[in-house]
Amino acid sequence: MENREIFEYFIHKIKNSTQTILLNAQILKKVVERKNIPREKMTKMVDKLCQQSEKLYREVRDTGFYFREENVMEKFDFHCLINDIIEDFQGFIAKRSLHIKTEYDLMIGKIDQDKLKVATVLENILKNSIEASYNNGDIIFSTKKVGEFIMVKIINFGAEISKEIRKKIFKPMITTKSSGSGFGLAISKRFIDDIKGEIKVNSSDQQTEFIITFPIDLESYEKIIDSRR
Ligand SMILES: Nc1ncnc2c1ncn2[C@@H]1O[C@H](COP(=O)(O)OP(=O)(O)OP(=O)(O)O)[C@@H](O)[C@H]1O
Ligand SMILES: [Mg+2]
Repeated sequence: MENREIFEYFIHKIKNSTQTILLNAQILKKVVERKNIPREKMTKMVDKLCQQSEKLYREVRDTGFYFREENVMEKFDFHCLINDIIEDFQGFIAKRSLHIKTEYDLMIGKIDQDKLKVATVLENILKNSIEASYNNGDIIFSTKKVGEFIMVKIINFGAEISKEIRKKIFKPMITTKSSGSGFGLAISKRFIDDIKGEIKVNSSDQQTEFIITFPIDLESYEKIIDSRR
């Protein structure tokens, strides 16, 4: 995946976030112009705007990071990261009446990885699962420690991914959505490769599952690989 494509991916993401903020600000303006609006309602809308602005700020701030080739190690609590990501999607999840079931392996605590890359992969897969789910369904988000690796499964109940799409699903600009850029999985694949992991997809007419595995401690894993060479 070329840097040009990463750039386009971010322009797309930033455009979407800006549009959402603008739309909500316009709604808020109309609400404020009306008299006797309950204070609670206003506070809720302002909170939402603040959250979205913060997200946009993070996206703009992080854009430069994505062009780096090297990994940046950080120790962080893996399940806290997942909880934060799920929290970010809460509005979207509620709108579709979905329910996220988490099944965490408590043997996993802090991990030593490139946090931004791990987060981007999880965000993109979860976002796709939400978009593909039938309303009122469950999404299962599970983690498992397998030796020195973490295995994450994200399962949703929705229409099957056709063979045609599955063959090229990790290539850029592959999308079946009117508003999609088709970069989500391509960038995820690139990042998973960077952190020495794997990404797989299984899909039937019942459910779709994305399985990702990656080392819990990337630097130690790379040392083991080097010593075997
Ligand atoms: N869980 C899923 N269920 C069904 N189809 C999926 C699922 N995940 C991905 N896909 C298919 O793979 C395509 C590519 O996904 P990808 O995330 O790369 O791009 P996108 O979601 O279309 O756009 P973007 O992520 O850039 O907004 C999707 O358009 C969709 O057709
Ligand atoms: Mg996507």
